[in-house]
Amino acid sequence: MCDIAGTTSPHKEHHERHQFRHPPTAFRRSGRPAASAHAADRPHRSDPGGGGAVTTDHPQEPGPTVTIVFESLFGSTRQVAEAIADGIRETTPVSVMSVVDAPALTDCDVLVVGAPTHAHSLSRPASRTEAESWARDPAKHLRFEGDSRATGVREWIDRCPSPRIGYVAFDTRVDMPRIFTGSAASAIAKRLRKHDLREVVPSESFLVDKDSHLLPAEIDRARRWGRAIASAVAASARPETSMKR
Ligand SMILES: Cc1cc2nc3c(=O)[nH]c(=O)nc-3n(C[C@H](O)[C@H](O)[C@H](O)COP(=O)(O)O)c2cc1C
Repeated sequence: MCDIAGTTSPHKEHHERHQFRHPPTAFRRSGRPAASAHAADRPHRSDPGGGGAVTTDHPQEPGPTVTIVFESLFGSTRQVAEAIADGIRETTPVSVMSVVDAPALTDCDVLVVGAPTHAHSLSRPASRTEAESWARDPAKHLRFEGDSRATGVREWIDRCPSPRIGYVAFDTRVDMPRIFTGSAASAIAKRLRKHDLREVVPSESFLVDKDSHLLPAEIDRARRWGRAIASAVAASARPETSMKR
């Protein structure tokens, strides 16, 4: 369950009516009641009709929900995030949002975080400024999508006060051996672990060419990976396969 003020949620109404009732325990630490047990008690995460908090009268145990937060300067990581969401959404409610729009998370079952690799790691203000200058070069055929040079996943995670939940990390990086490229996903995972989040599936990289254009097969691969995330999330939410520490 995700308490995310101001979240836009593209997932289907069907899913919205089947969540928030009995939060799964697999990603939660004991000792604190699940804040999302009563949707009306919290800021609603999705309410397309504008009528207030989401509620459900569904009698069965609902599954967990997933939130994807991505950073993208030229659009590749955004496309990957959207494809991952498509794969997850086949079975599991999911929200996807740019880090620029993402509020601090207060409670969420599984958080998927993705970012482009800059200087072997997560972007910084200087690398985002450099990215903007790349986009001014017509020979590169890049369009700058970073709507804020001030905010990236690095800064967002450092503000993120969300222990107790599961995480999945991904990045985009150049199609070369990782030892030469580095990986933003590794940096994301390291930071989220420090915040006491737990890995749900191993991190993944999606590849761009040397001009930062996403390789064609990566969208399908991201969609398949999204399905795998949904399966792992569902399995982890079952008591017999709980990921509780
Ligand atoms: C300033 C800058 C530094 C970069 N450094 C790296 C790097 O160290 N390793 C790498 O694999 N890619 C690097 N890249 C390429 C990015 O990974 C690539 O632009 C990104 O994956 C595209 O994703 P986006 O369209 O979501 O921004 C760099 C890009 C920029 C702009």
